Amino acid sequence: MTTNMKNDQDDIAIPQDYDLSTPISSTSGLRQGLTSYGDAHFSLFLRKVFVKALGYSEDALSRPIIGIINTYSGFNPCHGNVPQLIEAAKRGIQFNGGLAVEFPTISVHESFSHPTSMFLRNLMSMDTEEMIRAQPLDACIMIGGCDKTVPAQLMGGISANKPVLPLITGPMMPGSHRGKRIGACTDCRNNWAAFRAGEIDIEEISEINEELAPTIGTCGVMGTASTMACITAALGMMPLRGASAPAVSSARARVAEETGANAVKAAHSKWKPQDILSKESFLNAITVLQAIGGSTNAIVHLMAIANRHPKVQGVITLQTFEEVGRKTPLLVDLKPSGDKYMTDFHNAGGMLALLHALRPLLHLSAMTITGQTLGELIDASPFREFPLSRQIIRPLSNPLYPSSSLIVLHGNIAPNGAIMKASASKDRDLLTHTGPAVVFENSADLAKRIDDPDLDVMADSILVLKSIGPIGNPGMPEAGLLPIPRKLAAAGVKDMLRISDGRMSGTAGGTIILHVSPESAVPESPFGIVQTGDVISCDVDARKLHLEISDEELKERVKDRKAAAAAAEKPRQRGYRGLYERSVNQAQDGADFDFLTADGGSRN
Ligand code: FES
Repeated sequence: MTTNMKNDQDDIAIPQDYDLSTPISSTSGLRQGLTSYGDAHFSLFLRKVFVKALGYSEDALSRPIIGIINTYSGFNPCHGNVPQLIEAAKRGIQFNGGLAVEFPTISVHESFSHPTSMFLRNLMSMDTEEMIRAQPLDACIMIGGCDKTVPAQLMGGISANKPVLPLITGPMMPGSHRGKRIGACTDCRNNWAAFRAGEIDIEEISEINEELAPTIGTCGVMGTASTMACITAALGMMPLRGASAPAVSSARARVAEETGANAVKAAHSKWKPQDILSKESFLNAITVLQAIGGSTNAIVHLMAIANRHPKVQGVITLQTFEEVGRKTPLLVDLKPSGDKYMTDFHNAGGMLALLHALRPLLHLSAMTITGQTLGELIDASPFREFPLSRQIIRPLSNPLYPSSSLIVLHGNIAPNGAIMKASASKDRDLLTHTGPAVVFENSADLAKRIDDPDLDVMADSILVLKSIGPIGNPGMPEAGLLPIPRKLAAAGVKDMLRISDGRMSGTAGGTIILHVSPESAVPESPFGIVQTGDVISCDVDARKLHLEISDEELKERVKDRKAAAAAAEKPRQRGYRGLYERSVNQAQDGADFDFLTADGGSRN
């Protein structure tokens, strides 16, 4: 904004911003969130000094400022197309009268994050929140894709509560091995298990390694990244095609351009995530999660995201997933629950086709970032089924699995809950199973003994792994898919009931109970007292997980364990790890830092 005042040379318009008699409004553009020098006019003057070093004119600086979070990293191949997406998003912003300004935050990839990417999710969410809040942005496009990045950005964006628009990098294409399609990362695990069992040799596993990730982009199955992409669309936060368009497709670039246009609209309308998102938005997201047989990780992430929202915290709980699951069938035939890849889902109509199929189960009044309700959005985008779409996205009348692909179990060793992706079980008989426990105290113990030929384990044993919860192994590693002991794998055992307080990759399958809470690292955890030889019963229909000992014995064991923990001295960790260990909450609350939740942890 400039005045008619002119300087001595009478050719440069003098901005009104320098008129000391006019108070500086602080709600939009460059004037918002000024650095504190005790003189707002000077702060703005100085800000303009520096931004002009980049060559911006007063005209450019008077536009709505749209931030673009650049999460490109040489250590993140899932984000390999971020430069192209930025270019396309900038087109959308600038065609619609905005000023695009990109900036970095940290970027987190599954395979390049020690000890785990989950350890860094909360750090990324803090980086995202604080940089959105600190900088003069009228809206912000958040480019994410790999598993933890989208949850981190949603968590940070909701907490910052400026208009935010997720833009997802999209799935990779499948590869090919000896005439068969393969793709990260369900096939990484299947083929590795076959190699461990001696079914394929070292030459073949090396060939497979070349083809599992043949392009940039996120894992090409319904793993955590694709699940979070579908959920983000179901929350109403991005275009529906944005959930599945391949990373290397022209459709993906058009989604980016559309996101740029939407961002300018959101900046003008001041659509903040805490206004757009409601309980109903989360119910829609959970409905989609169940219908796609999505990643178990999405439960932890959705809880963390919901608990950042002051009006949703405490309203959406683990039990909500169970209640929605009972009404929602599995409709999407994708690995690991089914057989296909994300490109097939996209070609079958993707989220638009799925939302049309799920329409009777959705809350159509939920708002979206377009300014329309979800119902209006679906109505404005008719979808006509064709044979392929019906194969991959089933109608409600012909589901792949009748209901509850993701279930919540409770019992004396999981009083605060545990979860299982029942639809990904390879041996459905194990869904109701009683057997003796073979307990591994931690990951190192597991690595040492799992393939020991003398390990006392049978096909009906229940493998139990402790100390991989949020505190026990900071970041709650995806080690819940315990490998089948080699001697059993070689004998043809493909699935066993496995229980842990950790997570499992969204691309994995099997009869796996995860996220047992409270985790074993908590001294009073009943899960911590399970011993080898104890008998455990799992009854999926009754949603029960029970250790077959008396209440008295359980109490006695917990008491002894608490006393031993109190006597042991635990070194205080420094730095981020110390912050993590002292602040992380349990899986059923999202494994977020308690001070980052909407109430700052005051409910605890
Ligand atoms: Fe990035 Fe799978 S490793 S999505």
